[in-house]
Amino acid sequence: MVALEDCVGYLAPQGFLPELLHELGPVATNLGRLALRTGSMVQPAWVRNIWCNPRVIPFTSINQAASALKMLGPRWALYDEHLPRRGRARLIQQRLRGPSSRPLGFGDSLPTMPLGSWTLLDDTTLLASPQCTSPFAHGEALFAEDRSGPPSRAYLKLWEAFTLLNRRPEPGQLCLDLGSSPGGWTWVLHKLGARVISVDKAPLDTRLEGLPGITFRAESAFAQDPHAFGLVDWLFSDVVCYPERLLALARRWLEAGTVRNMVCTIKFQGETDFQVLDRFRSIPNSRLLHLAHNKHELTWIWGKNSGDRIQNLFS
Ligand SMILES: C[S@@+](CC[C@H](N)C(=O)[O-])C[C@H]1O[C@@H](n2cnc3c(N)ncnc32)[C@H](O)[C@@H]1O
Repeated sequence: MVALEDCVGYLAPQGFLPELLHELGPVATNLGRLALRTGSMVQPAWVRNIWCNPRVIPFTSINQAASALKMLGPRWALYDEHLPRRGRARLIQQRLRGPSSRPLGFGDSLPTMPLGSWTLLDDTTLLASPQCTSPFAHGEALFAEDRSGPPSRAYLKLWEAFTLLNRRPEPGQLCLDLGSSPGGWTWVLHKLGARVISVDKAPLDTRLEGLPGITFRAESAFAQDPHAFGLVDWLFSDVVCYPERLLALARRWLEAGTVRNMVCTIKFQGETDFQVLDRFRSIPNSRLLHLAHNKHELTWIWGKNSGDRIQNLFS
């Protein structure tokens, strides 16, 4: 029997536990979508939050459980979706300071006060990790949405990626947005003051027409010549295509050496292609993430001069 204190906990995104388990290999156990695995911490892509240092704490009363948690950390998020009965856990949580319920504004910095995660193993034992990788409860980044400006909700993926990276295009930088229609990402980049070349076979939403700094090309993403734009500060792709095709596109740009940063959505239809993911992962200075706003897709982030920052993101 493995001691759970010797494990690291990996919380899968909703619906993606099989993907996480595929990446982790054998695990000691799983509590719903929280997989507990022995050994030092690894960085799977299909993970929403990592419980870095879980410990098992026996208790006899609700107050005692709450006190034990308060001794370990200032704020706690209760993970209870797998529990058959949640009343006792919720009574404990009511005695704790929880995660902030205020959605983050785009441009706000990430919450800095530590947020631990905990759950019940049974009525008198809890499992608690004071240190977790995500500053959000169960890794769910929650933003105060703009419901009138952007033409699609895809903009939330970029808000989340830039917030986690703590980097974003600067005013005047050149961005290439591939597969841009109806224009959620182009809208974000325009708002940041970047110059945007927006490429899609389908048109942009009419509310983006005529905005300064946006050039629209009704062309294929795959027909863009990496040598034709000078130096591109950021290349984005949200193109619906096979992952292999996106990998070839990314490699073409890497080989050309004319891009500084890339943020690309790898989209899956049907089965998840783990082999192609390994090939994305093996590209130096890059990271694969499942953002809270990703569906059956991952976000691949690459930075020419930001290898460490990207590697250490979320760790
Ligand atoms: C998920 S949507 C992009 C949403 C967009 N990022 C936004 O924020 O509104 C995917 C887009 O990829 C485009 N697409 C598919 N194949 C393409 C290709 N070969 N070249 C350019 N765009 C393509 C589709 O027309 C579609 O608009």
